Amino acid sequence: PIHGNYHGYYAKRPSPHLSDTRLRLLPAGTFTNATVLDVGCNEGWVTCEIAQVYGAAKVVGVDIDESLVEAAWRRRRAVWSLQAPPTTSTTTLHPTEPRAAAEPNISDSPPKKKRKRTVPKNTPTTQAPVPPATQQHDADPVPDLPARAYFPASCLHEFGPQPIPPSIKGEVQGERGSGRGKTAFPHNVSFRAADWTATDIPEDKAGYDVIVVFSLTKWIHLHALDTGLTAFFQKLHRVLRPGGTLVLEPQPWESYTKARRMSPTLKENYSKLLLRPEGFGEVLREVGFAGPVRMGCGGEGGEYFLALLASVGFG
Ligand SMILES: C[S@@+](CC[C@H](N)C(=O)[O-])C[C@H]1O[C@@H](n2cnc3c(N)ncnc32)[C@H](O)[C@@H]1O
Repeated sequence: PIHGNYHGYYAKRPSPHLSDTRLRLLPAGTFTNATVLDVGCNEGWVTCEIAQVYGAAKVVGVDIDESLVEAAWRRRRAVWSLQAPPTTSTTTLHPTEPRAAAEPNISDSPPKKKRKRTVPKNTPTTQAPVPPATQQHDADPVPDLPARAYFPASCLHEFGPQPIPPSIKGEVQGERGSGRGKTAFPHNVSFRAADWTATDIPEDKAGYDVIVVFSLTKWIHLHALDTGLTAFFQKLHRVLRPGGTLVLEPQPWESYTKARRMSPTLKENYSKLLLRPEGFGEVLREVGFAGPVRMGCGGEGGEYFLALLASVGFG
């Protein structure tokens, strides 16, 4: 995977059923009603989470690896299949399964062995979940797991993913209604296969309020060198709307050592790099961003920092 195009990237995480720790570090409301781009979306787990839980109006995930994009579409349907059914009122739903069973364990591939029972006997019923459409992310930044995993993962394994009903034009997320508006999950999320450093995708034209770049800079840097990475930062600035936010999680320089071993070209490129991740902030400021504001360490193993940058543009 010379582009960092790992398969099973999310399922192999220590707690794949939990929400992404990096997203939790961001200020509440970062994604609310926003048009979001997730560059290097891999199998779409983070993309779907932003679309389902964080109140984004539209989320596009783009990845260089077509097979990962296919997996991301499957992930979208799997996540949809497990979430609480839409409600026509603001009253909370009552789960038919206890929370222990509702904790998701979603996999896009069929299970090797069918589990006979995933619901432990005599597990006490927990609080009624709030459907995503009525969630107040600002009040509670921790995503509501029971609402996201209303049906146990065994349903997905047993019956397959559920069909997604077509969206209803004009219905807005958060309003009372069918939960089928264009800005409601899963209608608010889509994926594209492209090398985003070299190709524009149709959504780029209208621009984005928030762009998420998680664990990607190393791969672009090793392939496209200092100039290519700078061009990538310039493109990010170009497609980010004025006042928009770039959420960047660069990998540390030490992690390049292992990555360069993947191919002779990467090894050769590595020796040509002068820029270091510690210096990205300066390059980004030259490109037109304000910041970075460091949000903390939330990456895999917790070793990476997250930076929040605002697009201010030149005059
Ligand atoms: C290490 S994974 C990170 C996945 C995800 N962003 C996360 O951190 O949760 C890097 C992803 O970026 C993708 N990628 C690498 N170069 C890319 C490019 N030029 N355009 C789009 N995607 C790219 C890879 O295929 C891979 O899925």
